[in-house]
Amino acid sequence: MDLELKDKVIIVTGGAKGIGEGIVQVLASEGAIPVIIGRNKEDNQKTLAEVEAAGGQAFEVVAELTEPAACEEAVQAVLQKYGRIDGLVNNAGVNDGVGLEKGSYDAFMASLHKNVVHYYLMAHHALPALKESKGAIVNIGSKTAETGQGGTSAYAASNGARNALTREWAVELLPYSIRVNAVIVAEAWTPLYESWISTFDNPEEKLKSITQKIPLEQRMTTTTEIANTVAFLLSPKSSHTTGQLIHVDGGYVHLDRAL
Ligand SMILES: NC(=O)c1ccc[n+]([C@@H]2O[C@H](COP(=O)([O-])OP(=O)(O)OC[C@H]3O[C@@H](n4cnc5c(N)ncnc54)[C@H](O)[C@@H]3O)[C@@H](O)[C@H]2O)c1
Repeated sequence: MDLELKDKVIIVTGGAKGIGEGIVQVLASEGAIPVIIGRNKEDNQKTLAEVEAAGGQAFEVVAELTEPAACEEAVQAVLQKYGRIDGLVNNAGVNDGVGLEKGSYDAFMASLHKNVVHYYLMAHHALPALKESKGAIVNIGSKTAETGQGGTSAYAASNGARNALTREWAVELLPYSIRVNAVIVAEAWTPLYESWISTFDNPEEKLKSITQKIPLEQRMTTTTEIANTVAFLLSPKSSHTTGQLIHVDGGYVHLDRAL
């Protein structure tokens, strides 16, 4: 299937590592021009170089997305370079363990900035360009919005908001034919996941106990599997799909617990 993404300029926040990197690689392999927005220049350039070495095109902008002004500047940098934006993937975030019992006002608010405020700001600033291109938005979310995890109130709240904003924007942007969907992830091996699992006393045991409960093939989801679904949702091949929360999780959230 030709996804018709050739030369489409698509912003991927947190595109230098993990799930974002997977999305950047898949988009580039489809002939799109993914734009990596990330806080670390070296990380951005490493992924950019890999895309180029494989014969693809990409661009990178350094931005710390918890700073509201940086979100606007990043969008402007893309417009300055290409004059258009065809898609936005909101992906950057961190499961930072700001719990109910062990947490604080400051930590809770800071986590919302790490995990959801920039989702809003990136969409807000990219909107005029997305209206022109009839572009698409994909929000990456986490199972924690639906299942909880314990000890991570702000991250769970942010993911609840990511889901709600997906539906809310799908409605608000109907008049512009801008589609908005979410891809919900449960367990994917990334640098973030690795640092989370290492917080347990016996990370290997913990990982084994988690993967055993993933219904489809008792394994983690790959970043490429997530990215393939994101690419489809960005493409005109999903032209009548909007407001959907699509779980790419090997059945983790919805299938029978007795499996
Ligand atoms: N890995 C999983 O199993 C999993 C599960 C559910 C949801 N998710 C979601 O997927 C998204 C990506 O997770 P990942 O595991 O790929 O993370 P990761 O840490 O491995 O990669 C994220 C990248 O984004 C960058 N980044 C993060 N916050 C940023 C900010 N404020 N400004 C600029 N750059 C920033 C990081 O530096 C890194 O390069 C997150 O939003 C997370 O909620 C991941």
